[in-house]
Amino acid sequence: MTTVLGVSASLRNARFGRGSRQLCDDVKGLVSRDALISYLQHQTALRADDVFAAAQQQNLTFDQVYARLRKAHGDRGLSNSEAALAAGLWGASQGGAGISHCGLADYFTYSGEHRNLEELRGKVLAADAILLSGPVYFGDRGSPAQAFIDFLREDPNCSDHIRGRLYAGIAVGAKRNGGQETTLIYQLVDMTNLDMLVVGNDSSTTSQYGGTAVAGDVGTLSDDTYGIDTAIGTGLRLARVGNVLERQAGVALRDDVRIAIWLLQDDRQHRGRTLMEAICTEVEKSIDGVSISVLDLTEEQILPCIACDVCPTGRGPRDDYRCIITAAKDLFKSRHRDLITPDAILLGAYSPVERSSVRSVYQRFIERTRYLRRDDYALGDILVAPFVISEVNSNQNLHIRMLTSFIRHNTVLHHPIIGIEHEQKLLNQDAVIQQSIGFARNALRVTAGRLRTNVKQGNSDHYQPVGYLISERQFLEDKVTGRLQASTEQRQRESLELSQRLRDGSHSSRDKESD
Ligand SMILES: Cc1cc2nc3c(=O)[nH]c(=O)nc-3n(C[C@H](O)[C@H](O)[C@H](O)COP(=O)(O)O)c2cc1C
Repeated sequence: MTTVLGVSASLRNARFGRGSRQLCDDVKGLVSRDALISYLQHQTALRADDVFAAAQQQNLTFDQVYARLRKAHGDRGLSNSEAALAAGLWGASQGGAGISHCGLADYFTYSGEHRNLEELRGKVLAADAILLSGPVYFGDRGSPAQAFIDFLREDPNCSDHIRGRLYAGIAVGAKRNGGQETTLIYQLVDMTNLDMLVVGNDSSTTSQYGGTAVAGDVGTLSDDTYGIDTAIGTGLRLARVGNVLERQAGVALRDDVRIAIWLLQDDRQHRGRTLMEAICTEVEKSIDGVSISVLDLTEEQILPCIACDVCPTGRGPRDDYRCIITAAKDLFKSRHRDLITPDAILLGAYSPVERSSVRSVYQRFIERTRYLRRDDYALGDILVAPFVISEVNSNQNLHIRMLTSFIRHNTVLHHPIIGIEHEQKLLNQDAVIQQSIGFARNALRVTAGRLRTNVKQGNSDHYQPVGYLISERQFLEDKVTGRLQASTEQRQRESLELSQRLRDGSHSSRDKESD
């Protein structure tokens, strides 16, 4: 069973020690979303009451109130980001994961002192996944979250342990658009750079960067039920992908895992393609069971997305092209099948200093993938990483844009592979090769687990047209007419067909438990 460690990153945390264990027990015992919301209402109110009661009854000033709260037992109440975390842990637990909790204020204290790091290390080493929830400070994380990320990076045992393990985030800010998304994005970039595999929230809400909630003063989070749902979805997503990683153990494939490099930007001399092909050769030499191909899309005709209201144009088999743009020469029309068959994707781009030589289909390509996302996440659970080679001083930021666009496909994000070139020399070639080999290894794990999981439990992630009235109406109609059910069944059949790729007798330790 995947164990998700929920990490609360606020100095307003109410829970630590015994209170952390109590929180997990309480969360596991909540039988429904309504029960969760009542629990959060009660617990966040307790935290607010503690503040008011201490101030009113004894006529204390705020600094005295805070001094008193710090001495509390750590077993009652929840701060805002802690309450959002509790929702995320509930989601994880509902998805079949085990849960544990730690409050960072206990380790990175008010006085700036770092203490009991042995204990924190133990909690990290016992976890398969980290769910980090904190307040937004100036559109970014607060100092406890920063201290935690530094700790993961600097502690050799932890940095080794978290490699290839899962991460997701939740951010709570006082305002709508207060920086919840920027906070999550900076964190997901840091966590991929620590070699963690990163996921966002799931299709039950929006499939974006993680949980986002709005709450300012203590005691207010439970009013944001939509934010709570995004936090629940984040926990569910961690549990699902945790299952995928668990199921890969002992599973073998009959054929190679297919890694595609979708080359979306290059120069006229095909410098990027040349460098990437050379790296692929090195990777294929070092690791069995993968084949890598560079799909040079920079010369292809790709028409821009016209933002039609019903996308895709209907429900049907995964192989059918269902975007409204049907020009024969359009890349998506002519090569739809090629785009849905890879097991793992590297989003390739070459960024030279001399922009006039650049050929880029990047933006048009990304926006046209909308029909794949809306086709119930046709690229769901696939491993993805940016593969960007940049000349020194090219000032590129494509890899961050790639991460944030592709997490919306419900993919699993991997460490970006970034090559730095100067005077026609790839300065960090060894690192690029090592990172590419790391990607290939993780592609083997995620693919085997994904195929196995789809056979065992299916993938009934439906795209929810949140914010689109016409699509919402269509979705409801598909539900009533049975088209939705038919497409779920179609997908089950497709998963079974794909399972032919698993070797006979392939099993996972997880299957042994559940069979
Ligand atoms: C130093 C500081 C900076 C803040 N910056 C932001 C911000 O940029 N955007 C925002 O929406 N909220 C901001 N807030 C509000 C907190 O994110 C918000 O109160 C949150 O609910 C606190 O969560 P907690 O109760 O778990 O500590 C800030 C708060 C503090 C103390």
